[in-house]
Amino acid sequence: MLVIAIAKGRFLKPSLDLLGRAGVRFDKDMAKSRKLIFDSEGGAFRAILVKPIDVPTYVEYGAADVGIAGRDVLVESQADLLQPLDLGFGQCKIAVAAPNGFRNVEDPDHPTIRVATKYPSITLEYFNARGIPVEIIPLSGSIELAPLIGLADRIVDLVETGETLKENGLEIVDVVAESSAHLVINRASYQTKRGEIVKMVESLEKLV
Ligand code: PRP
Repeated sequence: MLVIAIAKGRFLKPSLDLLGRAGVRFDKDMAKSRKLIFDSEGGAFRAILVKPIDVPTYVEYGAADVGIAGRDVLVESQADLLQPLDLGFGQCKIAVAAPNGFRNVEDPDHPTIRVATKYPSITLEYFNARGIPVEIIPLSGSIELAPLIGLADRIVDLVETGETLKENGLEIVDVVAESSAHLVINRASYQTKRGEIVKMVESLEKLV
């Protein structure tokens, strides 16, 4: 049996649709249920539903053999995983954003800028590479709030439609990286369950 870590939230439906088209079918009501473990029709696969940021951890530790995760969380986690396939959905950007009109406005009295983010490693690397002193404010959600209430000068966050930025009076200052959903594989599972994994990768490859 192959255990697949699937991210809850915006990736869940497209992940299940793609897996279904590849012949890996789970209960139709999975997205509505509060259950966290589901076996596929036929029993060859088991899905575990986890928070997007945790997919790399479950797969790296071998609690899942494979997973579907955004490139954003893969880069942030730096987990040691095989990443054979861009699955072609979940396209978005990781972007630096600031309140409208605040682009490139630096305060010479406060050269260190405060940046709120759920991507501390990516953010630090981005600002370090530009020699900009930065204080990271780690948050786990509603990042757009931080500059509106004086917690941070900028944010580094995921932008998909841009609607959340727009509705909160923020704009993109720079794009840090592009992201989309990727298939990831545990290195040991790739040795011990190679036949099953290769078959799954080949089925997905034909669809993306
Ligand atoms: C993500 C991200 C932005 C929003 C961007 O948050 O952190 O807040 O989506 O999407 P948009 O460009 O389509 O508006 P998510 O919905 O995952 O919730 P969170 O605030 O709990 O992180």
